[in-house]
Amino acid sequence: MALQFPIQAPAGYAGETEPVKRPKEFACFSYDKDHKFRLDDSSMKWYYPPDIGANLSHGYDTFIKHDDSVDEHLDSLLKTIANHEQQTGGPIDAHIVTWRGMLTKIMATPYDDEGFEMNATLYRDCIFIEENHAFKEQKRQMESNRENNRKGHRTPPSVMQYWGYKFETLSTIPRPWGETTRDYIENRDKEVTNNKEQYCSVVRTGFGKSIVCLGGEVDAIWDTKPETPGQPINWVELKTTAEIHTHNDRFKFDRKLMRYWIQSFLLGVPKIIVGYRTQGGILSGVEEFSTLSMPQDVQRRKTAKWDGNVCIKFASLFLDWLRQSINDGGVWRIRRENKSNHIELFKVEEVGHGSIITDEFMNWRIKL
Ligand code: A3P
Ligand code: MG
Ligand code: MG
Repeated sequence: MALQFPIQAPAGYAGETEPVKRPKEFACFSYDKDHKFRLDDSSMKWYYPPDIGANLSHGYDTFIKHDDSVDEHLDSLLKTIANHEQQTGGPIDAHIVTWRGMLTKIMATPYDDEGFEMNATLYRDCIFIEENHAFKEQKRQMESNRENNRKGHRTPPSVMQYWGYKFETLSTIPRPWGETTRDYIENRDKEVTNNKEQYCSVVRTGFGKSIVCLGGEVDAIWDTKPETPGQPINWVELKTTAEIHTHNDRFKFDRKLMRYWIQSFLLGVPKIIVGYRTQGGILSGVEEFSTLSMPQDVQRRKTAKWDGNVCIKFASLFLDWLRQSINDGGVWRIRRENKSNHIELFKVEEVGHGSIITDEFMNWRIKL
């Protein structure tokens, strides 16, 4: 039988706010140009402003695109956690372990109609949550069919998706700015855009009573990582969006900012740099946003209404409920249908941990 967590209108989560912890990075990992896992920060990039007027479609034919039809589960995150535990000699203290993207979906729920599916399992007092990859694939397939059937669209969606990654290539350098990066910067437009390469930060954060360990990709750093672990890091999130001309554009953009804000808030990314582009994919300007002040800035404009505290409170209450509800073994499905006013929770496997937890991780934990 399915359990249900009701989703109220945003006003239902107003009032008293929930305590949150500042996310602190305690580990990191990289994927190299072949998407090979590395336990280091080798794929970290530095921000360096892009040239305005650049053509974001340039190099599309040489784009090296990661095949995201393969289910990667939590594997890399678990490897990184196990390595950290080997160094500290004890298990991490999180109640929840997941990718940042899963909590982004949960936090956006009070303002969002979109459905999602996740798998969860309890292992040693901690709930591990992964995306239900089959559901995502099915959705992607449906969207691509719909796109193909639509008449008169000029730019294939894959080119638009390329613009986002190209903007990252045009706005980053592989080492801190200096003499040795001069040539690189001048020739950045000729660099092959490759989204197999990533730097991922692994943080400890908290919502209400829940301690959460999150892993997620970070686009770039502004300066250098502080010497002392746990200090705030000047990460930069890069985004592209269409130029804003009308009131409706502004409304849509302020709505988009909610996703940008949630995504950045979750990993403690303080700065979001938005590249504006023309309809044809020419970079026409960049604007810097502060993650911290974004919720108030948007409220002041009175266009798209969203309140960051509502997102935080919803996530806190949901995680509390999840921790009370997932109380024995097996694999659970967390599901929200499109436009539904509740999130369902039910068991899909009576025993074991499905593919959520790797044997490697369990073998390590047995030794602890
Ligand atoms: P833009 O967001 O600039 O369009 P991220 O911003 O999260 O670092 O992601 C980089 C780029 O990946 C995005 O650039 C977009 O092109 C693509 N991308 C990210 N999430 C996506 C999604 N859910 N669907 C399609 N493309 C996505
Ligand atoms: Mg990114
Ligand atoms: Mg980005």
